[in-house]
Amino acid sequence: MGSNLVQILPAITMSRSLSTASSPMREGSVGAAKGKTFYLETFGCQMNVHDSEKVAGVLVARGYRPVKNPDDADLILYNTCSIREKAAQKVFSRLGAFRKRGGRDRIVGVLGCVAQQEGEAFFERAPQVNLVCGSASYSHLPALLERLESGQRRVTGLSLDADQCFETELTRRDNPFRAYVTIIEGCDKACSYCVVPQTRGAERSRPSSKILAECRRLADEGYTEIQLLGQTVNSYRDPSPAHLSFSELLIRVAEMPGVRRVRFTTSHPQDFTPEIVAAIDSHPSLCNHIHLPVQSGSNAVLRRMRRTYTREEYLEKIMCIRNARRAISVSTDIIVGFCGETERDFEETLSLLDNVGYDQVFSFKYSPRPKTAALVWGDSVPETEKGRRLEVLQQHQREIQLRRNQARVGKEFEVLVEGFQARLGQAVGRTTSNQIVNFPGESDLVGRYIRILVTGAGANSLVGVKAARSEVTREEQGAGA
Ligand code: SAH
Ligand code: SF4
Ligand code: F3S
Repeated sequence: MGSNLVQILPAITMSRSLSTASSPMREGSVGAAKGKTFYLETFGCQMNVHDSEKVAGVLVARGYRPVKNPDDADLILYNTCSIREKAAQKVFSRLGAFRKRGGRDRIVGVLGCVAQQEGEAFFERAPQVNLVCGSASYSHLPALLERLESGQRRVTGLSLDADQCFETELTRRDNPFRAYVTIIEGCDKACSYCVVPQTRGAERSRPSSKILAECRRLADEGYTEIQLLGQTVNSYRDPSPAHLSFSELLIRVAEMPGVRRVRFTTSHPQDFTPEIVAAIDSHPSLCNHIHLPVQSGSNAVLRRMRRTYTREEYLEKIMCIRNARRAISVSTDIIVGFCGETERDFEETLSLLDNVGYDQVFSFKYSPRPKTAALVWGDSVPETEKGRRLEVLQQHQREIQLRRNQARVGKEFEVLVEGFQARLGQAVGRTTSNQIVNFPGESDLVGRYIRILVTGAGANSLVGVKAARSEVTREEQGAGA
């Protein structure tokens, strides 16, 4: 999803002490690289961001220390994204710039989706690269690192037949109050424009027993928000004897003592059930926000995209969400200019935006990708026309968002305070329905849940002030959200 297209710059910053729990990943490798340094830069979605947290954990356990500047690192890793051409290009421009600077000998590794996609060919395009490893092979990272440390020039981890998820208790989480937890890896859908099934492999769900144990540990460590992750998170199928459905899993996490917010991303419309809405309705700690990518409002385009639902079926799911007792906000992803998209198709996407009333839309110009089904159909919509459609769509959505945000003025919302800007004396929080609120505040509010009265609205965020009685307890949670 668009919201998760973040970039961590410079390197992962450490905010938690290292878990001391034993893990099979560590055996025989602890401290092997003592005194060495690493730089890790991440592109792409939340799945990649969280993978980097896991990789950083493995590295720290081997004795590596994180640094913020690649020039100071013995090991440089780029965790890459291949979703669109521009995203994939980033790693090559980083490698190019780095090569020009020259300098001392070091290990350079490429992880993630471009690594998986390019495979061995990466070494030809970028000869300075020593390691190419896709996400389905991260459990082999300690062994691969060992080979590199003992002098081997080129190593790869490219197998996609992993039958389980990459799990480690060494994860170095980047945020002190929000913890990502992978519940399902890979993707079994076959959208004709998308590289993810090739780059992340087939769907693998983690046993619910392990997920719940991890969430319990995170709650004990003080994390109050849990974000469950998967490319198609709601396609989750519990392989453990409990056989929890996705909505049952949500409820079990939401009921865990200490957990105040649960988010999940990304949901696929095909597997989106009324039980998910019922769970949100009955459990205030399940955030009232659903990211439900639609991609297009035209049935003809949806069919060619192989999205497995029609506009009408999608709108039925939206109706179910709108009929909930809680006001659940909905966001989406849209691709404009997919091959064969006519002006009429595009107008149907605009009318869908009116029908749904999204609170946020992440929109992208179609980018043909290697080895996808749509590649052979060409790229019929010219770049300038794609640009025009994107602009029209974004302007249309800005107006919708502004109206929706203006309707929030005068109301009170609970926010989790996520940051503070000393220069402005402003704190920034997020409502459970995922709206950003700026308000006058102090740095000691960060990580706390407080009630805010909204006093103004823009298209992308709200402004407010602390409400008269601002601290919110877990028991009061959810009211007015
Ligand atoms: N698994 C999620 C989305 C993953 S990719 C889902 O199915 O909804 C995030 C978003 O990138 C997609 O929702 C889509 O809008 C966009 N995207 C994927 N492939 C693309 C391509 N080839 N060109 C442009 N945008 C693309
Ligand atoms: Fe890509 Fe479709 Fe899978 Fe999402 S559901 S990751 S868009 S193939
Ligand atoms: Fe994520 Fe990009 Fe891979 S969106 S799954 S990092 S292609």
